[in-house]
Amino acid sequence: MAQTQEMKPLTASPSEALVGEARIPGDKSMSHRALLLSALAIGEAGIDGLLEGEDVLRTAAALRACGVAIERADSGRWQVEGRGVGGLSEPEQVLDLGNSGTGVRLLMGVLACQPIRIFLTGDASLNRRPMRRVSDPLSRMGVTFALRGEQFLPGLMEGPERLLPITYEMPVASAQVKSAVLLAGLAAPGSTGVIETQPTRDHSERLLAHLGAKVVADAGDGSQEVRIEGEQELTAKDLTVMADPSSAAFPAVAAALLPGSAVTMKGVSTNPLRCGLYHCLEEMGAEVVLTNEREQSGEPVADLSIAGGRLHGIEVPANRAPSMIDEYPILAVAAAAAEGRSIMRGLGELRVKESDRLQAVADGLEANGVAVAIDGDDLIVDGCGGRVPGGGRAATHMDHRIAMSFLVMGLAAERPVTVDDASFIDTSFPGFAELMRTLGAKLS
Ligand code: S3P
Repeated sequence: MAQTQEMKPLTASPSEALVGEARIPGDKSMSHRALLLSALAIGEAGIDGLLEGEDVLRTAAALRACGVAIERADSGRWQVEGRGVGGLSEPEQVLDLGNSGTGVRLLMGVLACQPIRIFLTGDASLNRRPMRRVSDPLSRMGVTFALRGEQFLPGLMEGPERLLPITYEMPVASAQVKSAVLLAGLAAPGSTGVIETQPTRDHSERLLAHLGAKVVADAGDGSQEVRIEGEQELTAKDLTVMADPSSAAFPAVAAALLPGSAVTMKGVSTNPLRCGLYHCLEEMGAEVVLTNEREQSGEPVADLSIAGGRLHGIEVPANRAPSMIDEYPILAVAAAAAEGRSIMRGLGELRVKESDRLQAVADGLEANGVAVAIDGDDLIVDGCGGRVPGGGRAATHMDHRIAMSFLVMGLAAERPVTVDDASFIDTSFPGFAELMRTLGAKLS
């Protein structure tokens, strides 16, 4: 894949038990939403715990280019001056969302709310990802798009004078699509609905409700409909972003694989629509303990402790995929070191992430001596029942989660594992290598 910045290889060497407390950065999904919804609200909001990773910084920069005042105080608190729904102004430059699919797709929903023209682009990875899933429903609401090849960035969009409310049945299980439609629905008259057959993460709905919007979810027969009332304003509130369970997944799996480990992570999201990996780890035999369960800015959080042990293979049903869609690469690493076969079903969506994650995972496992197969949309991993052979190189394809997954594998391998480029880790987990080292991981 074309890549412009310099590649930074990183090697993980076989390590012993990981022990200690890991400070996990803010949740990426929630950080994007905290900035975007605070920009749409009336009043000023302070945001604590915001993920200061590349992806989220791009969203902040894009909002600033649309006239939103956003400042970071020395204390680490971010201050956003809301402009109200429809209050963004036309940017004078192209908005470049870098590597971030969530940033650009949610932003499209927000930008639909006012009649302005916006040029959008991303890096080589983002510019290969499908955008029709968002432009299709937004076009039905009256937004005009000109996308490269009808489906990719770079592209141009223009919101209409008046949006139309729609009820949209999602063809893919995607919280990004759901969120884009709901955010645009804020500016449409009447109510806008999204029907999903598999429930996806509900951070947008929770935060919209937390800021005073009327948003309801109705469970039907095998599906649910989420509706938002349009032409309403949000009230800015101070927010605290929870720790990201998708980032916590890397030290968690490392601890689960290295006997004698005990790692604690505070304030991690326990949103049920994000916790699939932790259920899998428990089923595989890891010890996962939640304490101090509480609510924070409309989201459930807890302190999470995980202890190492011997894992065994499991079968993961397709309907668990939305609750752990970003965690399959690291689950595959856990499966590689477990005893017996693991089958992960229904992973078609992994092909359109920051990389084709299904292929990248299979290639990386194979390069490190693990027996793996892709069967349609299923991934089959034959576990080594202990340390994986390792000794190989994994190609990361500009994908932060592929990089972190194979570094974790190197810790639990017989020989070091090198990833060809660790630079994209900063999109979601700045300080990953340092944090893992403080727990006892050998990364160089
Ligand atoms: C996200 C939704 C998921 C996930 C992404 C974050 C979100 O994407 O992979 O990392 O914040 O809404 P899809 O909605 O496309 O599955």
